[in-house]
Amino acid sequence: MIYDNARPRYLPHMANPEVLLMGLSPLRETPWIETDTDIGRYHRHKLAQRRERGDAVYRAAARSLPAQRELSTLLRQHLLEAHSAHYETRDRGLHCLPGDFYAELSGAESPCAEDGETLWRTSLCVADDLVIMQEEAGQYVLTAASLCCPSHWYLADKFEQPMRAIHDPIPGFHDALSDRIERFFSHLRAQHPVVRFNWSLQADDALAQLPHLEPEVDADTPLFYRSERQTLVRLPESGAIAFTIRVCIHPLDMLHEVEGALPALFAAIENTPPALQHYKGFDELAPALQKYKEGYREGYREGYREKQGEKPACRDHQENQQA
Ligand code: HEM
Repeated sequence: MIYDNARPRYLPHMANPEVLLMGLSPLRETPWIETDTDIGRYHRHKLAQRRERGDAVYRAAARSLPAQRELSTLLRQHLLEAHSAHYETRDRGLHCLPGDFYAELSGAESPCAEDGETLWRTSLCVADDLVIMQEEAGQYVLTAASLCCPSHWYLADKFEQPMRAIHDPIPGFHDALSDRIERFFSHLRAQHPVVRFNWSLQADDALAQLPHLEPEVDADTPLFYRSERQTLVRLPESGAIAFTIRVCIHPLDMLHEVEGALPALFAAIENTPPALQHYKGFDELAPALQKYKEGYREGYREGYREKQGEKPACRDHQENQQA
């Protein structure tokens, strides 16, 4: 089974309109990592980001090496078991069939040179960004990350920082969430991985949203819906926590096809406190959002359907899966 990434598969603002939410659910039988038709594009994006931005997209402290190796081994096993139709072992790494790429791996079952690049190589197998958090002096600290699809943050600012400092720029975050996140981290069990989602809007379709590259926005600017599927998994041997972030971006127009998606989005934005609206850039995007509000009427929806050749956008996982 593989998802069609041309259609939105998660619209987290519909179930979770609030921004400051724990929003954790058990992964249960859903796979840790998801594959889709676009995985080759994410792989190429990562290679290009590393070429252009060097250690702005990959940092790893030497003390994170055992956790990197453990994550690499677990992910390799997961991809070969949960996605056996899409990954196969080749040489010292994995071949991804839908993406038609090869990524060398390191780890217990596939040792290659220990050059501090274990987490980077592992991240090249999947579309997700990968982060390792380790407990140090009672706090979880970011000790390694492969980060090619950031949502307006720089890895250099967060590397070797604890959870509280990482979330410092978000208005109201500490009062609402920091203590709860710390409690959750100390209780997370290897057998009970969890998943959560963030949602956002942006003014272009770039996977990497960087604070210094904000596009100019006017009334005609097309907007895009960004979802982040995040998982948190305890690595049983090292005790570290693996944090995965999968970004999906779709033209906002596509939400016309999902009953209630646009009105829910407008309401979610309106109900976001002003300081958080500013943090998430909703104030900057307001002129560009206006046309979607005006366009939300039956005629527009019919017109949109015609444009799409009557092909409905997918509303949930089942519809979005390809054999
Ligand atoms: C239970 C775990 C976590 C929860 C509930 C949580 C929650 C959140 C929320 C609500 C936001 C605001 C997102 C938005 O724009 O809508 C956020 C942002 C962010 N989170 Fe987390 N998060 C968690 C774990 C982590 C971890 C493990 C990292 C490690 C890298 C992390 C890094 C960030 C960063 C870098 C931002 C953006 C901060 C900035 O703007 O500078 N989060 N998080």
